[in-house]
Amino acid sequence: MKKTAHNGILNGLMRHPVCTSTIPTSPCADNTINPIRGLVDNLVINPNPDKPFLRLSIGDPSVFGNFDPPPQVIKAVADNLTTSCYGYVPAHGLVSTRSAIAKYYNTASSPLTSNDVFVTSGCSDALRIAMDCLGSEKRNILLPKPGFSLYQTIAGNRGIPVKFYDLDPENNWSIDLNQLESLIDENTAAILVTNPSNPCGSAFSVQHQRDILAVAEKHGLPLIADEIYQDMVYDGESKSFGELSEHVPVLSCCGLAKRWLIPGWRVGWLIAHDRHNRLSKVRDGLTKLCQVIIGANVLIQGAVPQILETVPQSFYDDTLKRLKSASEVVYSELKDCPQLRPFKPQGAMYMMVQLKIDQFEDIGDDMEFVEKLITEQSVFPLPANIFGIPNYVRLMLTVPEDILREACQRIVEFCDQHKAAVPRKISRIEVAP
Ligand SMILES: Cc1ncc(COP(=O)(O)O)c(C=O)c1O
Repeated sequence: MKKTAHNGILNGLMRHPVCTSTIPTSPCADNTINPIRGLVDNLVINPNPDKPFLRLSIGDPSVFGNFDPPPQVIKAVADNLTTSCYGYVPAHGLVSTRSAIAKYYNTASSPLTSNDVFVTSGCSDALRIAMDCLGSEKRNILLPKPGFSLYQTIAGNRGIPVKFYDLDPENNWSIDLNQLESLIDENTAAILVTNPSNPCGSAFSVQHQRDILAVAEKHGLPLIADEIYQDMVYDGESKSFGELSEHVPVLSCCGLAKRWLIPGWRVGWLIAHDRHNRLSKVRDGLTKLCQVIIGANVLIQGAVPQILETVPQSFYDDTLKRLKSASEVVYSELKDCPQLRPFKPQGAMYMMVQLKIDQFEDIGDDMEFVEKLITEQSVFPLPANIFGIPNYVRLMLTVPEDILREACQRIVEFCDQHKAAVPRKISRIEVAP
C-alpha cells in the first residue's frame, strides 16, 4: 500500500490499546431523578395473562382516545401549518402568542401584557425556568407533600435544596399553614403550590388561597404556582393565585397539556403576576433561561392565539362534566370496600384512594399492593409513595367508564381476597421518602 500521511496517522492511532472503560456521568445527570421512572422501572409488572391489562397509572388524557382535543385545536394547528415560519423566533415566545395568552388571562385585578408572558416547552419547562430563576444551591424552595414528582427532579438536577410542607387529607388536602411557615428560613427563595392538585385531585378554597398568599406576603416571598389544571374545578369557584394576589409576586405555570388535552404537543407558558414591580430582575432571568432551549415549538405556539379564541366554553364544560362523572363512578364502586377509602376529587383528573393497610392480611404497603394487584388482577394504579405519601394509590380518571368499572371491581375483589381476619397491628408507620 502506498504510504500517505493519512495512513501514517491511522497506523499511529491503532498502536494504542482500545479503551473500554465506561464513560463517567456528571453529578447533574446523576442527581436528575424522576421518581416515577425509578418506581415504574423497579416495579415488578407481571400482569395476569388471563385478564386484559388496565392501566390507570399514566397521567396522559390521550391514552384511551376518549378525551380527544376539540376540532378547533386541530384546525388551529392545520391553519398555522401554511402560515408558520420555519425559523427560530424569540426564545421566550412569539409576540402574537404572548399577547394572546396575556389577553386570555387578563383580569381587572391582575392586568397583563405580552411582557408578562414567557412561552415554554410545556408546563414542565415553565416550572424549570421558575425554579432555576429563584432557587440555587443556597436558596431553598418549599414543595407540597404529596406533590408532583417533577419538582424534585428539577431541584435535584440543579442542586436546589427543598423542604416539604404537608397537605392534609382530612382537611381537603389543604396546606398546614403553621407547618408551612415553620419551614421558611432566611434562605427560602419561594413557595411552590399546585392548584388544583396532582396527585390529590383537590382544589383549594379561595379563602385558603388567600391564606397561603398571606403567609407568602408576611415573609416577602414569591409563589411559584403550578396551575396546569387551572379552571379544571368541577364545581364552585376557580381562581388563579395571580388573580387573587394583591402584593405577592406569582409565577404561574400552565400550558396546553391538560385543559386542551394535548400533552404531547409540548407548549406551556409562565405568567409573571407582578403588581409592585418586584420581578424586574426575575423577568430578565426568565428570558435568559428560555434561551437555554431556544424556545418552544413554533408551529404549536403559533396556533395558540387561534386555540384560545376558538375553543368553545362547551368543550371545557363537557370535559369537566365527564371527569366528574368518572370520579363518581370510581367513588361509588370503591366506597363500600372496607380496606379502601376513596377521596372525592374536586378538580384535575386524578383520584386518591387510601389503603387501610392494617386491614390487609399480607400486604405491607402501597408498592406491594400495586405489584400484587397487577400480578393477580392486571390493574395498575400508581403507588402514591412516589408523590411522598405512603399507602395511597392514585387513579387516573380519563379512562372509559366500562374500563373504570371493571378496574374498580377487580380492585374490590382483590381487597376481599387479601383482607385480614382481624386488623393487623402495624408496628411501624411506613414513611415515604
Ligand atoms: C401538576 C403538574 N404540573 C406539570 C405537569 C407537566 O405538564 P406539561 O406536560 O405541560 O409539561 C403535569 C403533568 O402531568 C402535572 O400534573
